[in-house]
Amino acid sequence: MCGIVGFVGEEKAAPILIEGLRRLEYRGYDSAGIAVNGDGVTVVKEKGRIDNLQGRVDEINPQGTIGIGHTRWATHGAPDQINAHPHRSMNGIVTLVHNGIIENYMELKNDLIEKGYKFKSQTDTEVIAQLYDFLFDGDAITTLIKTAEKLEGSYAVAMLVKGYDDKVFAMKKDSPMIVGKGDGENYLASDIPAILPYTRDCYIVNDGEFIEISKNDIKIFDKDGNEKEVEIKTINLSIDAAEKSGYDYFMAKEIYEQPKAVMNTVFPLIKDGEIQLPFEFPESFKKNLNRIYVVACGSAYHIGITAKYIIEDMVRIPVMVDIASEFRYRNPIIGKDDLCIFVSQSGETADTLASLREAKVRGAFTMSIVNVPFSTIARESDGVIYTNAGAEIAVATTKAFSAQLSVIYVLSAYLAHEKGLMSDDEIKVFTSEILKLPEKIKTALDCDKITEELSKHIATKENMFFIGRGIDYPLCLEGSLKLKEISYIHCEGYGAGELKHGTISLIEPGTVIAAVATDDALYGKMVSNIKEVHARGAYVIAVVKEGTEGIEDVADEVIFVPKSSKYLMPSLTVIPLQLLAYHTTVEKGLDVDKPRNLAKSVTVE
Ligand code: F6R
Repeated sequence: MCGIVGFVGEEKAAPILIEGLRRLEYRGYDSAGIAVNGDGVTVVKEKGRIDNLQGRVDEINPQGTIGIGHTRWATHGAPDQINAHPHRSMNGIVTLVHNGIIENYMELKNDLIEKGYKFKSQTDTEVIAQLYDFLFDGDAITTLIKTAEKLEGSYAVAMLVKGYDDKVFAMKKDSPMIVGKGDGENYLASDIPAILPYTRDCYIVNDGEFIEISKNDIKIFDKDGNEKEVEIKTINLSIDAAEKSGYDYFMAKEIYEQPKAVMNTVFPLIKDGEIQLPFEFPESFKKNLNRIYVVACGSAYHIGITAKYIIEDMVRIPVMVDIASEFRYRNPIIGKDDLCIFVSQSGETADTLASLREAKVRGAFTMSIVNVPFSTIARESDGVIYTNAGAEIAVATTKAFSAQLSVIYVLSAYLAHEKGLMSDDEIKVFTSEILKLPEKIKTALDCDKITEELSKHIATKENMFFIGRGIDYPLCLEGSLKLKEISYIHCEGYGAGELKHGTISLIEPGTVIAAVATDDALYGKMVSNIKEVHARGAYVIAVVKEGTEGIEDVADEVIFVPKSSKYLMPSLTVIPLQLLAYHTTVEKGLDVDKPRNLAKSVTVE
């Protein structure tokens, strides 16, 4: 939610800020703005996408080599020009941008109004600016610390302060922020892609730290104003991860990057047919592992349900799957013999992070499956397995989802082996199947053509259903989420056996149903379910393994995907579902990468 950039150097700041915002636009895109410090501070902000802002910036042409920028996902106040960031304080002491939510903003605002402060916007952000202005004691850092003491909620803030014309200041709590170290220039950003064209050397800002950057210096202060050591890390991400590389949309590129994403994820975990995790579970888990929780949001939650099917079958340990926004408030029963797994592409999702902290307080061993290096969830977990999918820019996840699935396979096999339920030889066979997945995913991508054809039909519909059983069921939830979030066609994913408990009344002639049927043991039952909806006029697209016979007799269209072990089929089945969502959205002329109202990284609860 919301992207922040900052720059201090010798080059003109505006183009660098705009380029950084473009790379962060996936975080929010209802308005954008920059503030540049040249001969005084110039603020330019516009409603809508970065292109609108670019137009205004070209007209105004702000000079100056120091600045901050923001792309917004509205929380407080309509997505219009006035509420767009940056916000400037009444006396012009500070101009700032903010990502997060200030929970006590009303109380602070009323107090500041009583003190004579006048507000222009409806945002919680403007409160930070006016508060800083009110508290200003002539020292930028001590005022920042005093401001932070009064704020409740989450924030990453970057600011220009009057009288400090060669510097940008920043602070953060529960919202991500990095500092990029260049040569005679330094950067601030919410996420790594923003600074990739300039540097890979970063400082990952911690909660409660206060930042001062100038072109040759990065200073970090703690809450008592003491300077801290700046530990620079080099981020290993290629710049083309954040480029479309000839594809029309990031989503298409990322769908096609899945073989590589899976390979890069599993390769470091499998050595000569043995599984090597990058951390150790507590010794006591060998005997006493009681339960596994998987906690996540959205597509990552679907990974959790898939994990339940696989782990319970392979490892015979109960798996609870929770939506993070529920888990954190439902007083879950967890303790030291439980393993809590947190799945997150961004590693910053507010609810998932809060759930992780809750699980730690309750004494569970926590591990995370995270894509963004050094993100907060990764740093705060007891153990982390990275999905090396590379930067994922399209709002709808695809390659990170596939990489997460592959971690679940490896983890399940590891736990089964630890429990003595899989022998060394069985592990060798299973891991060799996992290593064949990238090639098979490449073959599965051949269904691009048929999904494009089918999308022409789906794009004319207002509703669609995805049905499946067993391990295909969570994939139906995922296929449904993917299609609805980007094409705006209402979809539901259902356990096929559950349909007649209500939803079948919605089936009418022409209703499109995607029926996923890859599990041999449940195939006969799926055929019966397909017949039931077909008899009521549904148009059925079946997704099955290659070699499935007789399916053409019951379905209107069939998409075949390569065969694999039953546990690994989700990696192949998901491909046509992603492509159906992608092509349908293109067919409808919508913005595939930036669906309305959404943002990639959900850092507010
Ligand atoms: C859907 C999608 C979202 C995310 C969810 C969690 O395509 O991308 O549902 O899966 O917002 O985000 P992360 O994985 O960053 O925690």
